[in-house]
Amino acid sequence: MNELRPPAKPRVITLTVNGEYHEATVRPRHMLVEVLREMIGLTGTKDGCASGTCGSCTVLLDDRPVLACLTLALECDGRNVRTVEGLADGENLNTLQEAFLDQGGTQCGFCTPGVLMSATALLEANAKPSPAEIKKALEGNLCRCTGYNGIVDAVLQASGQSPGQVE
Ligand code: FES
Ligand code: FES
Repeated sequence: MNELRPPAKPRVITLTVNGEYHEATVRPRHMLVEVLREMIGLTGTKDGCASGTCGSCTVLLDDRPVLACLTLALECDGRNVRTVEGLADGENLNTLQEAFLDQGGTQCGFCTPGVLMSATALLEANAKPSPAEIKKALEGNLCRCTGYNGIVDAVLQASGQSPGQVE
């Protein structure tokens, strides 16, 4: 006879998001993207596909890019998360964000939070990436608008290199 199991009890996790301490009450099924958007109210991180395909939910977990739609909230207990909201200093965009505006690296903007976080992780690991390295680092971030050249140019500009190298 099949017996219905009671739902798993919720658990309180703690996490630091963009330098701020948060607590969230989560169940085992909750994903990091739900914690960020629905519990903490940081809606910059997008939930484009909820299946690991588009990259729009990319955030940094302990400085490494992860897909928040595939990352269990329970895995994030006690860890550091950075989202797109943590890039600007108040009203002042950071160098990478400014470069995206300069180079047409964003149009509708839906992919942009995830692209920015992947690019941030790249630039922290590699201060002067080549166009090929930029494309590799961003291959999990889909964009239906820009054709990608503007994105690569923006990362080149942000790293102090000349844009326009993409063939
Ligand atoms: S929403 Fe996570 S990969 Fe698309
Ligand atoms: S700017 Fe529209 S999806 Fe990338």
